[in-house]
Amino acid sequence: MGLHDKVTDWATDFDHTDEEWAADPYPIWDELRATCPIAHTERYGGVWLPTRAEDVAEIAYDTERFTSRSVVVSKFRPPMELAPQGIAPPISSDPPFHKGARRLLLPAFAPQAVAKYEESTRAYCHELIDAMGDAAVVDAAEGYAQFIPVRVIANMLGLPESDGDRFRGFVHHVLEGVDKSMEERAAGMMELFGYLEEQIEDHRANPRDDLITYLLQSELDGEPVDGFHVARTIGLLLIAGIDTTWSAIGASIWHLAGHGDDLARLVAEPELLPMAIEEFLRAYAPVTMARLVREDMDFKGCPMKADDFVLLSFPAANRDPDAVERPNEVIIDREVNRHSAFGLGIHRCAGSHLARLEMRVALEVWLERFPRFELADPDGVRWSGGQVRGPRELPLRILGS
Ligand code: HEM
Repeated sequence: MGLHDKVTDWATDFDHTDEEWAADPYPIWDELRATCPIAHTERYGGVWLPTRAEDVAEIAYDTERFTSRSVVVSKFRPPMELAPQGIAPPISSDPPFHKGARRLLLPAFAPQAVAKYEESTRAYCHELIDAMGDAAVVDAAEGYAQFIPVRVIANMLGLPESDGDRFRGFVHHVLEGVDKSMEERAAGMMELFGYLEEQIEDHRANPRDDLITYLLQSELDGEPVDGFHVARTIGLLLIAGIDTTWSAIGASIWHLAGHGDDLARLVAEPELLPMAIEEFLRAYAPVTMARLVREDMDFKGCPMKADDFVLLSFPAANRDPDAVERPNEVIIDREVNRHSAFGLGIHRCAGSHLARLEMRVALEVWLERFPRFELADPDGVRWSGGQVRGPRELPLRILGS
């Protein structure tokens, strides 16, 4: 979490890395939505925060006035020279370049393509639980959720499983180190890209059946995809695929630990799990991406300036009473659930089928092995702040059946 002045006014001086936001952002967003639906802060060089579903959607679909040149809020703005690819194509690319960069990835993330990771993910989930032995108190974030997406993405990309700690370090740097100096930010990025360059060289020399090799052998606009593009896309997948899913699995288990009735129902009626997963994604949507304002303009009465950030709060949109009935209730068999946890518009999550598979398998195995559990220490739960929010410490007491 960043070092910053404590927030005293959420409408005019918010900070999405604040401890209060990390612990429980929902009352903050509810209050803003009712009183100041597009909040503003001078921090990070100027950031806007829409909290209504309608405004979040309008901005997400408007790639003319809002650019994806940077999707992570920090004090710095990426140099224009990186456009149109941006630092991590396709998430940082605008049209028309975005389309081809995204199309490259889609076959690898189609439902049939990701299905092949189910069996190994299930076996790995069991291994993680086996390693907990018969401890009465276990940490579902530190001992379980954090490892699952790292293993899956390492296998998919063709990176050594043993580098998992390094990947988590990169993710932490990019997403939570947003208050660091320019030099520190740059040094962390250099380390990430240095690591990826080495891996790409190794894949060029020794092609194999994995996503890095596939990307190196693909074409974009009739030309082979260059190594720099591949490195930046792999960097994106490491960042986008790890703590998003880790957060979503952790938040789902956290909910069940605090709601014994939902837990008992899911154990008794496992066929409800896919619906429950959609509801966990809606209610605890982990991901908030950002846009930069392209040119000075007025947006619904807000004087937005070029290079101001806008936080696209999909999590706040999912709790908007004008868009969702009883938004603050978690209803595990909610029938109508058009949430935007995976985003909206051209950048909608390319990894959603994989994310859902990982969540389903992780929860199926957890519930099979631990049909009864509760929070061991509600004050001991720690949530990450910033743009990807989920439990990072989640101590649970395992109860006998
Ligand atoms: C529960 C887990 C996940 C959530 C909630 C999530 C959420 C999101 C959101 C909200 C966006 C839109 C970003 C924007 O509008 O700027 C996005 C984009 C993206 N996600 Fe995910 N994501 C998850 C898991 C994954 C996984 C597992 C992968 C792949 C390994 C992945 C890959 C991507 C990619 C490549 C994009 C960019 C797509 C584009 O720009 O066209 N995500 N994700």
